[in-house]
Amino acid sequence: MNHPAFSDIGACVFDAYGTLFDVHSAVARGGATLGEKAQGVSDLWRQKQLEYTWLRSLMDTHVDFWQVTNDGLDHALAAHGIDDPALKESLMSLYLTLDAYPDVSACLGALRSGGKATAILSNGAPRMLEAAVGSAGLTELLDKVLSVESVGIYKPDRRVYQLAVDALEVAADRICFVSTNPWDASGAAHFGFKVAWLNRFGKQPDRLPGEIPGEITTLADLPGLLGL
Ligand code: LAC
Repeated sequence: MNHPAFSDIGACVFDAYGTLFDVHSAVARGGATLGEKAQGVSDLWRQKQLEYTWLRSLMDTHVDFWQVTNDGLDHALAAHGIDDPALKESLMSLYLTLDAYPDVSACLGALRSGGKATAILSNGAPRMLEAAVGSAGLTELLDKVLSVESVGIYKPDRRVYQLAVDALEVAADRICFVSTNPWDASGAAHFGFKVAWLNRFGKQPDRLPGEIPGEITTLADLPGLLGL
């Protein structure tokens, strides 16, 4: 149902990993040899990847998301006692062609038909995003694909969210930002976006600054939230 906070939205900006792309599809597709360790490896890989973005931002030792994704996977495999360079290589390659969630392309199409600009704003390095967007067939449905590499620091630094305002030339309070990651939703709301938290996984919101006016469980509900 449409919501007054979203009545004058000019553009929708999406987080990529976990929001449009299923980060667990790499292990699901290429991790058969992990057996019962598969879920644990995939979860720890994602957890460490994100922790390294925050920690490296605090330490002022930025490297791109390909490197932190690689480092997170190294940690996760080692923590589970796995030493298999070929498996590691294959999981990293699969990160370039992650599955898009099934609700993504119809939502982007509906937003475009409704006159809204669409963009990705992600921690991902440009070549990772280009590969994932291309392999999921989303290139034509996105006006911009924006990477934190332009500012050399990770979400939730304000400079990252400002990239979308500058690139789309839409004021922050007319941008609907969509993320599954509760901390990204809070960071974006604190920056000044109108945030629709995509609570795909039934998570608790983070206890962080930033008021989040919208919550949906599927992207199928986003056009309606915007009154389309
Ligand atoms: C991204 C991470 C946060 O795509 O999932 O920016």
